[in-house]
Amino acid sequence: MENREELTRQLEYIDKLKDTVRRLIDVYGRVPKCAVVTFGCQMNARDSEKISGVLSEAGFDITGQENDCDLVIYNTCTVRDNANKRVYGHLGTLKAAKKNKPGLKIVICGCMMQEQSVIENISKNYKFVDLVFGTHNIYKFAELLYRMYEEADSQIIDIWESTDDYVEDLPIERKYKYKSGVNIMYGCNNFCTYCIVPYVRGRERSRDAKEIIREIERLTDDGVIEVMLLGQNVNSYGKGLDNGLNFSQLLKEVEKVDGIKRIRFMTSHPKDLSDELIYTMAESDKICKHIHLPLQSGSDRILKDMNRHYTKESYIKLADKIRNTIPDIAITTDIIIGFPGETEADVNDTIDVVKHVEYDNAFTFIYSKRTGTPAAARPDQVDEAFAKVQFDRVLDAVRECASKRNKSLVGSVQEALVESLSDNDPSMVTGRLSNNSMVHFKGDSNLIGTIVPVNLHTAGGFYYIGDMV
Ligand code: SAH
Ligand code: SF4
Ligand code: F3S
Repeated sequence: MENREELTRQLEYIDKLKDTVRRLIDVYGRVPKCAVVTFGCQMNARDSEKISGVLSEAGFDITGQENDCDLVIYNTCTVRDNANKRVYGHLGTLKAAKKNKPGLKIVICGCMMQEQSVIENISKNYKFVDLVFGTHNIYKFAELLYRMYEEADSQIIDIWESTDDYVEDLPIERKYKYKSGVNIMYGCNNFCTYCIVPYVRGRERSRDAKEIIREIERLTDDGVIEVMLLGQNVNSYGKGLDNGLNFSQLLKEVEKVDGIKRIRFMTSHPKDLSDELIYTMAESDKICKHIHLPLQSGSDRILKDMNRHYTKESYIKLADKIRNTIPDIAITTDIIIGFPGETEADVNDTIDVVKHVEYDNAFTFIYSKRTGTPAAARPDQVDEAFAKVQFDRVLDAVRECASKRNKSLVGSVQEALVESLSDNDPSMVTGRLSNNSMVHFKGDSNLIGTIVPVNLHTAGGFYYIGDMV
């Protein structure tokens, strides 16, 4: 449930933090600088915007760099072990930095903090970290930061096992003026056997459609023209809500918001993807021609062990239906290689699906054992070298079909939302097509945030070169 009382409380803490910032200005002789460093997925990116919102409202300069600031916040991810390791790497560097700059404050939050073993490690071996909180109480950030600065003489750790509450309408500092993520649900109930997300993000909770629309309307007032609706499984949106809107109906409501020109969403679980959604996408002018549809594996045996609730055949049927109903749609996916018990034959099934669906792009991951998940307890973990070889086979197949698909729009004119100046050439801009491909073309910074027609004349690896029409 949305908790409005808590909102008032946290807004009061933001006011108190303003006094803290004034005090810090006296000490430093300048505005205190902070850096928010984000790991992980779009959900975490959105959470970081919430953290930045509080900091900015309180008066911090949020443009600081990790190696030159007075306060650094790590918003962590733990979906794979390498995400985890990177955080410890950064902390190691900061330990030395703090020796030279004792006033430096270090905060860690996010998914990794919801793991008991991590908390034990940080409280024992990383005492120089000033504040630790988790995913469920991120809305208490203002209060916790205030306590860190004004009351604490030792490390503060505040982790909750779960919550039914969420607090909306706290200040948010967006990374992009013209586009924004919007949470439509939190948590996950699917318990895929390899995955730690349900343990660190808690049970699935859908936000009320009216609240979502209200947030999107406010975003459009503030210049946003593209929204990405965020959830671990957006296709199960609305389960457990009284007003009964499902995901397709929610999309239709979002479409009615005048200022919105483009709608994206992440992520779609194949088991819950309805025909209604496919038709809604096909009929819509605003919903982008892109769907991220994680496959994970093409082997029925592995899919069953992963608890994914679909088969190779049903997945292929679904992908075919999507391609046949929505011309020019890009389908992207996630694939895990090296799940316990996986054999070369299983990987062949995965490659079959890759070749059949012809993904526009795919993120491939070597299976990472996550403590506490059912798959981690299996005795038949696969050999690392074997996984690497299989990974390369899958990657080859992915590259082949992606480069084929990435030529498909050459010669056509497509609308691009201009996102930035090109990295390599300041006389060019980079835009995103409806199908999520990028295009580079001549233009200047005035175009950023606008949608323009572009003639795509050349295909690069994963991008196009074009000319504005
Ligand atoms: N909710 C989304 C996925 C979120 S995690 C969905 O179900 O599609 C993003 C991706 O990380 C997953 O799709 C999966 O491919 C990958 N992943 C999750 N757990 C993993 C693990 N233990 N090892 C390797 N990859 C993993
Ligand atoms: Fe993880 Fe599966 Fe939930 Fe996705 S749907 S977050 S992979 S448990
Ligand atoms: Fe990582 Fe948490 Fe997202 S574990 S992938 S940041 S939900």
